[in-house]
Amino acid sequence: GGGGTEGFLDMEGALTARDRVGIQDFVLLDETTEAAFLSNLKKRFSKDLIYTYIGTLLVSVNPYKELDIYSQKQMDLYMGVNFFELPPHIYALADNAYHTMLTEFNNHFILISGESGAGKTEASKKILQYYAVSCPSTTLLNTVRDKMLMSNPVLEAFGNAKTLKNDNSSRFGKYMDIQFDSQGDAVGGHVLNYLLEKSRVVHQNHGERNFHIFYQLVEGGEDDLLHQLGLERDCQHYNYLTQGECAIVSSINDKNDWKTVKNALQVIDIDEINTNHLFGIVASVLHLGNIQFAADSKGQPKEKLAQCYFSLQLLGVDAHSLQEGLTYRKIEAKKDQVLSPFTIDHAIYARDALAKAIYGHTFTWLVNRINESMENKDSSRKTVIGLLDIYGFEVFYVNSFEQFCINYCNEKLQQLFIQLTLKAEQEEYEAEDIEWEPVQFFNNKIICDLVEEKHRGIISILDEECLRPGDATDLTFLERLEDKMGNHPHFVTHKLADKMTRKTLERGDFRLLHYAGEVTYCVVGFLDKNNDLLYRNIKDLMCQSKNAIVKECFFTMDLDSRRRPETVATQFKSSLLKLTEILMAKEAWYIRCLKSNESKQSGHFDEALIRHQVKYLGLMEHLRVRRAGFAYRRKYEVFLKRYKPLCPATWPHWRGLPADGVEVLVQHLGYLPNEYKMGRTKIFIRHPRTLYATEDAYERCKHELGNYSPSIIFFFTSSATKIETCWRGVQARKERERRAWAVKVIKQFIKGYMTRGQAKTTDNSEYLAFVRQNYLNRLKENLPKTVLDKTTWLSPPPVLVETSEILRKLHYRLMVRKYVRGITPQKKAEFQLKLITSSIFKGKKDSYPQSVAQPFIDTRISEQDINMRVLQMIRNEHIKYSVPIIKYHRNGFKPSPRQLILTQTAAYVIEEVKIKQRVLYTSLKGISVSNLTDNMIVFHITCEDPKQKGDLVMQCDHLFEFLTKLSVIANKQNVIKVVQGSIKIEIQAGKESAVDFSTGPEPMVYKAKNGHLMVVS
Ligand SMILES: Nc1ncnc2c1ncn2[C@@H]1O[C@H](COP(=O)(O)OP(=O)(O)O)[C@@H](O)[C@H]1O
Ligand SMILES: [Mg+2]
Repeated sequence: GGGGTEGFLDMEGALTARDRVGIQDFVLLDETTEAAFLSNLKKRFSKDLIYTYIGTLLVSVNPYKELDIYSQKQMDLYMGVNFFELPPHIYALADNAYHTMLTEFNNHFILISGESGAGKTEASKKILQYYAVSCPSTTLLNTVRDKMLMSNPVLEAFGNAKTLKNDNSSRFGKYMDIQFDSQGDAVGGHVLNYLLEKSRVVHQNHGERNFHIFYQLVEGGEDDLLHQLGLERDCQHYNYLTQGECAIVSSINDKNDWKTVKNALQVIDIDEINTNHLFGIVASVLHLGNIQFAADSKGQPKEKLAQCYFSLQLLGVDAHSLQEGLTYRKIEAKKDQVLSPFTIDHAIYARDALAKAIYGHTFTWLVNRINESMENKDSSRKTVIGLLDIYGFEVFYVNSFEQFCINYCNEKLQQLFIQLTLKAEQEEYEAEDIEWEPVQFFNNKIICDLVEEKHRGIISILDEECLRPGDATDLTFLERLEDKMGNHPHFVTHKLADKMTRKTLERGDFRLLHYAGEVTYCVVGFLDKNNDLLYRNIKDLMCQSKNAIVKECFFTMDLDSRRRPETVATQFKSSLLKLTEILMAKEAWYIRCLKSNESKQSGHFDEALIRHQVKYLGLMEHLRVRRAGFAYRRKYEVFLKRYKPLCPATWPHWRGLPADGVEVLVQHLGYLPNEYKMGRTKIFIRHPRTLYATEDAYERCKHELGNYSPSIIFFFTSSATKIETCWRGVQARKERERRAWAVKVIKQFIKGYMTRGQAKTTDNSEYLAFVRQNYLNRLKENLPKTVLDKTTWLSPPPVLVETSEILRKLHYRLMVRKYVRGITPQKKAEFQLKLITSSIFKGKKDSYPQSVAQPFIDTRISEQDINMRVLQMIRNEHIKYSVPIIKYHRNGFKPSPRQLILTQTAAYVIEEVKIKQRVLYTSLKGISVSNLTDNMIVFHITCEDPKQKGDLVMQCDHLFEFLTKLSVIANKQNVIKVVQGSIKIEIQAGKESAVDFSTGPEPMVYKAKNGHLMVVS
């Protein structure tokens, strides 16, 4: 066949649709830049084309809306059709894997990756549905198929939850094998699950929920059932459901989901008794969460029994034992058993640990049950397609142990991906006898090693801390990491960081530079979560449960109880290792899911967000590998069939070997020797432009000669000059289009400028967009650099006044935040003191404003400068602060320099070796200063005895610092008075005088004629 008469299916969609909707296969992009990649993705996304290939890898962008591309009709369309003949689709990939499996009789897997909310789980469901519908089947097999499909809602109810990233986020990893017999019937399945995020059972972050099943039960459960389980139809009633403060969300219909799940449980063969046990467990977890502890007379926890009642009944355990289990710890000392009481915190910890353990075990139990029901017992040989839908790379505001495991898992899968794609590409070159040209790419093995290496990796160090006797804590774990990882390029902590980075880290954080970006982990809880310990007596108690599921779960767990169980991280590491082995033995297909925006909005293509994903998913590198030598490769038959009209020797029929025909054809088209290579079964073309030129020539001939008969086509196409003309024509037309476009753009710009002041219209909208962008770009370069700079701010154009104001506030807050984070504890303490100073003096004393910028220091006289004899005399009192003063003698006001020392209990006036006066804080009844700028201070002292010394008059250069410290040490904040005009003093009991204040040209202190002390400032 040939020419334009043949159907659409015969053509390579990737080439024909190139201009209309971007390019369907990135391999055919003109240039392999990130910009070109993104623009192609965007172009397609805007037309709801969410799928694009890189060779056989499928890139999928989450549309956040229902698309009409998953109908039965679409499935039929893709069934058994060659990969490149139809527009990219997930069905094409599923179908291709399936048919390769059947013809080559080998095992495959489809790795679906992408960050949380990118569409992995949806993709895996689409594939499962495709197989369920399109594989041949019998009635018997239909039930297997139903089970496979219905295992999904059950696993999702128990293993998925709403997070900030995704309303239906998988909180466990899932690998599912679908087994096919030699006829291609789906005959069985098996699920492997990975690390369920159990901590969610007892704690949820703001905006997140617990696992769906809890809400489904409370919202959807029948009245009878709820009554039986002692539940109320109100999520707000349960502590474990309300921490995220979003128990009910509009995007989730718990009532409907409940029905689906109940039905699904039947399909997967869970009988009524077990179903009851299962819901009993779910309910008991809710009841456990409501148990509270009150301290008894000795301060030890005592559980409030009423709340406990239902959980006891549902768990089928003895009341007294559970109460004891939650409030006492059993210690086995030689032959004796000792009960040691918990603190309340400990009791809560034990309660939560129990809830997590019950739920976690039940989830595993459920997976086992599903596997039993999908198992195919027939021993004939089968091939499998594995579907891997595992938690995506995750970064939250606070990241803990769970995120650490999840991100480590993604690191491992990326490693697998790198190994397999490079391997596959190299193998193809080898098979085709073409020389391999190495490609540069980032290999993340260094990060995998950082996490998992024996004895040296983070997991090993974590385990060591968990097992080490003594007082290991999360922080000692961090210290050990710092010791061991000190200069690793992908590891940093507060202590190890440089000045800039340090500001972004807390003391309890460590940061890993993952292949996908930086993640800061908070070490709090790492040890506990890795240990995942359950107290012995609770474990024993659960083994006696009357709930068969609970009993079974804890009993199996208990079998090898003598050995210490492996830590969570180590178990996870070895399960990932096993998974890698499973996958390595199969042929790989990849789906890379991209999240289009963070707000789950349809039609919004967040370019920055997508660029980041494209980068860390290594898509550009994959593309480069795919195009390392040759962008395009096709079997000789396929190539010849399409392009044979372009050469008289191959049109309409080529009688020899296809390879020879292709050689003749490309010679005729003038391909240069370095532009292509002939492999064993395929032609490899180095640059897309060569292919495009060929394709354009082909299109043009077809178009111009559209309805002519093949012989006329032959007549024209046989002329080499004609082809050249076509080719030039195409180039010239392109140039003309480019110029016309430029003229249009310039005109629009001018129009926009002239109408810039008016409301938004089609004339000025692009111009305004330009103004906005321009302003934002300049703003970025001219931001104020410090918190104190409140004047620098680029004035905005009229359209951006409001935005600019919001940005200014945001930026200011950001700077404040950075500043606050950079404050050291010493500085913080000083600020707190300054705050006290301000509360005493601000607006009252004239010299206060100048004092603000002067730093406070610990002391003004170091201990070496205080006489030994004096130190001896007050050695029992801790010295808090010392400062030089000038003391005015009571009689005659003669000034003399002294040291003033503050201890916890008294202020001492020191002259060299002598203590001249000791003022107990208890007898210090007041302190006065003037409102002017002088440094005079008066201590008012209670004195009943005339022999005792009276009030103390002094001058101190560090007045604010001194009085602030004194007010804190002696708790005298309220007795400091700022006085105008004159301060009365008591020279001796019953003998009064005064200090008078005024202003003058020069500061002076002297005894006035009226006998008062005159202070001029
Ligand atoms: N192909 C798709 N078509 C329409 N909506 C989708 C598609 N893929 C994902 N979504 C939407 O995105 C949400 C998150 O997808 P999901 O597969 O759960 O993400 P992941 O498993 O990667 O965390 C889904 O609940 C759905 O609303
Ligand atoms: Mg998911």
